[in-house]
Amino acid sequence: MKKILIVFGTRPEAIKMAPIIKEFQKNTGLFEIRICVTGQHKEMLLQVLKVFDIVPDIDLKIMKPNQDLIDINSLIMSKLKVEVLKYNPDLMLVHGDTTTAFASALTGFYLNVKIGHIEAGLRTFNLKSPWPEEMNRQFTDKISDLHFAPTLQSKENLIKESIKSESIHTVGNTVIDALLFATDKVNNNNTIQNNIELQIETFGYSLSSRKNQKKILVTGHRRENFGDGFKNICEAIKKIASNNPDVDIIYPVHLNPKVQEPVYKILADVENVFLIKPLDYLPFIYLMQQSYFILTDSGGIQEEAPSLGKPVLVMRDTSERPEAIEAGTVKLVGTCTDNIVIECEELLTNCDKYLSMQNAKNPYGDGKSAFEIVQVIKSYFKI
Ligand code: UD1
Ligand code: UDP
Repeated sequence: MKKILIVFGTRPEAIKMAPIIKEFQKNTGLFEIRICVTGQHKEMLLQVLKVFDIVPDIDLKIMKPNQDLIDINSLIMSKLKVEVLKYNPDLMLVHGDTTTAFASALTGFYLNVKIGHIEAGLRTFNLKSPWPEEMNRQFTDKISDLHFAPTLQSKENLIKESIKSESIHTVGNTVIDALLFATDKVNNNNTIQNNIELQIETFGYSLSSRKNQKKILVTGHRRENFGDGFKNICEAIKKIASNNPDVDIIYPVHLNPKVQEPVYKILADVENVFLIKPLDYLPFIYLMQQSYFILTDSGGIQEEAPSLGKPVLVMRDTSERPEAIEAGTVKLVGTCTDNIVIECEELLTNCDKYLSMQNAKNPYGDGKSAFEIVQVIKSYFKI
């Protein structure tokens, strides 16, 4: 049996690793799986583990309020080292571009463990944007033995960096596997829908009493937007809300104090802005479906939205996900207040533009990524 150590620590990594864990669990005779969460996130990670019914074997519990990158890196490396030495895995899997991914991959690299990088090859080629994610992703790819690229474009990025093509496998993005699981639950079960509406209401937004309002869903958390970027974003939201009393803006606010502070300071008293706690994954997908469009700086949401037919305005200047922009569902709008307002107003009023953004094909796969990833790992080990 091959020993696989799966390491992740934040909300999006958990969502995208969950389908792979489920797929490995179908192959128990071939693999022994150990799930290690770093705990880079706490409450937001638990929310996802609960939805997918995943119980970690190891929790490094590293989260501190307002943690900095050096804390996260050094704590993960020193604590994960002990676990890797104890378990001695044949392969470690890490995901994406977080500090968890990079610190874990580096730990594995120093201990001579083979590394598989899920969601490899995304690039902006600008180390400052997204920061520090672009560096995390480039370095993780450099020291990985297996690269699971979601698209041909991400594969090409890796080849340009002289990564051996035999190590690169184009498998789509497991975010779609997770999304299909979520939409299947959310759309086919009245009890689940009622519970979801109840959770959203408990968190501060009543879908039933606001059903005639158009809804804009907002999320934001990027480190490079801290400070002026967040102030600009909040001022834009305030203007859009006051220009459009028939629109509700619903904003599940990331738990990072550097996000919470400006958001609550600028937006807490705006009548048609609803600041709520981060939602569980299923309620969030449900709310995406009820929204007119989404305003975000998130990566994962850009990948999910095309499947739901929801336009996404991205409050960033760069994107490592050009496929979604080319497909037409996603548009970069930067972080200047006036530009965000102009782009939102345009989408609210220009029906042709809205429809052209709505009708795009999802470039991130068909929901079979986890299966393909496990197949590749089987042939890597010749089992
Ligand atoms: C991290 C990732 C980012 C990813 C994002 C997904 C890095 C450097 N950043 O950013 O790439 O897009 O996750 O959301 O890896 N907090 C809680 N409870 C939680 C989670 C966070 O209280 O469950 C608070 C803590 O005060 C924590 C702070 O948020 O210190 C920041 O969390 P951190 O993981 O450092 O950064 P994110 O902005 O979440
Ligand atoms: N998400 C969630 N609850 C929320 C906001 C987002 O479950 O309140 C999900 C969303 O569906 C997506 C993922 O979290 O799959 C995106 O995470 P985030 O924006 O934190 O990180 P990023 O994708 O930017 O790394």
